[in-house]
Amino acid sequence: MVREWDPRTASSAEIASLLDTLNAVLAADLPQDPPWRESSLREYLSEVMPGERRISWVAQAEPTAGGGPGAILGHIHVLLLGDIGVLEVLVHPTTRRTGLGRDLVRLAARRVYQEGFRSIGVEVVGETPAVAFYEALGFSREYVETRSVLDLSAVGWTALAEMATAVSAGYRVEFCPGGPPDDLIDAYARAKAEVRDVDDGELRPSSYDPQRLRDSLDTLHRRGMKPYIVLAIHERTGEVAGLTEVVVPAQHPTRADQYDTIVVQDHRGYGIDRAIKARMLLELRSAEPTLAEVQTWNAQANEAMLKVNAELGYRSDREWCEYSVDVAELVHRLDPAR
Ligand SMILES: CC(C)(COP(=O)(O)OP(=O)(O)OC[C@H]1O[C@@H](n2cnc3c(N)ncnc32)[C@H](O)[C@@H]1OP(=O)(O)O)[C@@H](O)C(=O)NCCC(=O)NCCS
Repeated sequence: MVREWDPRTASSAEIASLLDTLNAVLAADLPQDPPWRESSLREYLSEVMPGERRISWVAQAEPTAGGGPGAILGHIHVLLLGDIGVLEVLVHPTTRRTGLGRDLVRLAARRVYQEGFRSIGVEVVGETPAVAFYEALGFSREYVETRSVLDLSAVGWTALAEMATAVSAGYRVEFCPGGPPDDLIDAYARAKAEVRDVDDGELRPSSYDPQRLRDSLDTLHRRGMKPYIVLAIHERTGEVAGLTEVVVPAQHPTRADQYDTIVVQDHRGYGIDRAIKARMLLELRSAEPTLAEVQTWNAQANEAMLKVNAELGYRSDREWCEYSVDVAELVHRLDPAR
């Protein structure tokens, strides 16, 4: 049975069952990734930025012989933001190739269409069944990034400590657990706005103005995701010359996610990129003792950043693609009678 589902009011048994399916999917498709934990999973699935909405559906098996609720075997949600709907779909490996994924997308696509949105985007992990699935549904590939993973047990900490201090005179590097201090929010937002083209992750909301930045930090905290930031401050002007952001999610706290790293144009060539990333890893080592890995996503054309990441010890893992489709075409393809 497929039905609309609200993670805020779902029973704990449903959340636990969805977690089992998610971990079965990870074990099948991304066996090197750490399994997720239940910690803040409900909040992760419910909390959104102001102005955004997430609508979810689940596919649930028949009740068990003992009358208990059936397992959640499939899940889809669509995040409505700006003028696009961003999909995430999961089907338990034991239930695949039965048409359930297509049914879930059909439901979500109809709703996105009714809500007046024009396009749907989705992140698709390379070398998984999702590639053939979305291509069969008529999605086209818009953008490809490479995911790389750093194994912290293989890091040369002495060399890293040297990199962290090898920044030109005139800059001060600061570690800000939890987010940038309030008096630097404006300067931080300016740095992000200036290089918005460099931001990776087209489907990830980036924050270019101070209020949006505050909302974004607040949303991360509500979703159980702890942000850490390292800033390079240009001492003469007080401007933020560079920043790097890492998030440790309660759902998989042994593997952190690298978000944006930005060095503002005027401040390039002074060793800031390397220094702030190295300082971040040193700080995380003591702030998050259970952390084992950090993953990052980069545009394949961003050679400078790929070079720094390789020096730090990142190993490229797999392609991470963005696909999109016109909603009206998708609805028509899945539901030709409409
Ligand atoms: C992608 C996914 C949702 C597909 O679900 P599904 O229920 O198996 O898909 P369907 O049965 O509706 O398949 C629809 C069509 O997609 C294509 N397709 C799906 N899986 C495919 C595969 N493994 N190989 C080739 N084509 C495939 C086929 O054309 C299929 O139609 P057909 O079976 O009539 O030939 C499922 O594999 C999944 O949950 N993957 C994980 C998604 C994810 O987010 N991963 C990242 C985090 S781990």
